[in-house]
Amino acid sequence: MSLSSSGTISFVALAIGVLMVLASHLLSSQSKGGIHNLTGIPILAAWDFYTKRYDFLRKHFDSGKKYFQFHILQVFNMSVFFPRTTQLTASILEHRVIALSGEDARKLFFSEQGLDLDDGYRLLQGGIPSLGDIDVKDGEVKLDTDFMKRLLLLLHKDRISNVLLDDINRKMKYWGKEGTIDPFQDVYGLAVQMTVRMATCEELAKNQEDIKHLMQHYQDIDESATPVNVLLPWFPSQARKAQGKATRALFTLLQKYVDLRRKAAVPSSDPIDTLIAHGDTDESIVGASMGIIFAGVINTGRNMCWVLLNLGANPEWKVKVANELKALVANHTNTLSQEPFHKRLAAVPLNAWEEELPMLDLVIRETLRITMCFAVLRRNLGRGIPLAGSTINRGDFVTYSLADVHMNPNIYTNPGKFDPGRFMKGKEEDKKAPFAYAAWGAGRHPCPGMRFAKLEIKFVLALFLVGYEFELVDGNGKFPREFPTVDRNDLHQLSAVGETCYLKFKRLIE
Ligand code: HEM
Repeated sequence: MSLSSSGTISFVALAIGVLMVLASHLLSSQSKGGIHNLTGIPILAAWDFYTKRYDFLRKHFDSGKKYFQFHILQVFNMSVFFPRTTQLTASILEHRVIALSGEDARKLFFSEQGLDLDDGYRLLQGGIPSLGDIDVKDGEVKLDTDFMKRLLLLLHKDRISNVLLDDINRKMKYWGKEGTIDPFQDVYGLAVQMTVRMATCEELAKNQEDIKHLMQHYQDIDESATPVNVLLPWFPSQARKAQGKATRALFTLLQKYVDLRRKAAVPSSDPIDTLIAHGDTDESIVGASMGIIFAGVINTGRNMCWVLLNLGANPEWKVKVANELKALVANHTNTLSQEPFHKRLAAVPLNAWEEELPMLDLVIRETLRITMCFAVLRRNLGRGIPLAGSTINRGDFVTYSLADVHMNPNIYTNPGKFDPGRFMKGKEEDKKAPFAYAAWGAGRHPCPGMRFAKLEIKFVLALFLVGYEFELVDGNGKFPREFPTVDRNDLHQLSAVGETCYLKFKRLIE
């Protein structure tokens, strides 16, 4: 629906338009085919979808609806986009969102060609830094598999493990020889450091003040993803202003380093230099670095913390993983050398990190099965897709909760229990159904950062499990009686609910 008029009349017309759309929803309650139609005021359904997404989806699926749909109204004031016009033009975009569950839906969701990932997240999630929001052209970079492959080649260049292990060791030394750390602060900081190193250049990776500012800008953008900001993009809310300010600051900060590298007398093999050599513009280099840091930091950082918490809570797995890491060190490094431990670790070849840590691979896999229970999002940019006697039309949004499969007791026995053994030969519960494991994405959108993320987690665990002894403690320094769990309604941070736990540590080797 599109409305056009001038001055205050346009706002009256806009209000009438919104009311007409609302009324049409209050009156119509038919379900289309097998897709149940949620009735009521669209903004209220949308509100719960943005604020308590896991509970909202679960409530409707638990009440027996396999597929259901609701509508989101997005209101644009076009005069914001064409400021010189005397004519105020407002548009109401009504989006249909279809929530899916079950095996057939999962196959469709991950396999259909027309279902676009970027568009899905942009409207239904928000909080994604985009240079388009501050009118920087050419900065919208698609972090597709080819692009990521190009970047991940750097893993094999210049002994990247050496650089990353140096970085982590330097930060870990700040913790002191013994003490207590909050993993969500201190361990998370290690992932930030490695991702910045991987996405930008040496100068930024060494500037802790700028890294602090950088992460603050991401946090501000994340916090600006309020339903009002996403659904009323023209409204000059505090969140909208904060989003613009943080995106501009992010752009300026990263551009400073692109400029620095362009002017450098000798090119390096850092990511920014690689993109400069490839002929990319400043805007697209900033866009790429910004996107990789966004895609990489939170998932890797938070899951790294959850892996450590799970090991702390499950000592038998901690011992298995520590023994395996000690064997890796013994097999690939000179144990008689006087070099610091992290320097020795850099001698381990990348393929050994990837192939010789099967227990740790199981622990990471199980940790992610439990943490990655969020709703994945798509928009149909292709042909109409038949579903349950109805159609997912071009322009419709679809969502599928990973909890539907990761917490499914018909696939995973006692799904709430941490049990890495469920993936071992003979059990292989993740092979019971198509796309039964999607923590790294599945089908058309596998995570291109998986190899890098796994390496980051393994580097940190090697330094921490071999170089330190640690135990999980509560606020009183005792082994916790209850362990924290993931807040499934937290759309962005995989944060913990329940008792806060810490890691009490002692450094054993230098
Ligand atoms: C533990 C760490 C990580 C986890 C669990 C993870 C998980 C995922 C998942 C589940 C998806 C698919 C989302 C969907 O289907 O809607 C995805 C996509 C993606 N991930 Fe990761 N990821 C991690 C780390 C990284 C890192 C380090 C990078 C970059 C360096 C990265 C870059 C991306 C990109 C660019 C996509 C979108 C791919 C596309 O458009 O097809 N991820 N990731």
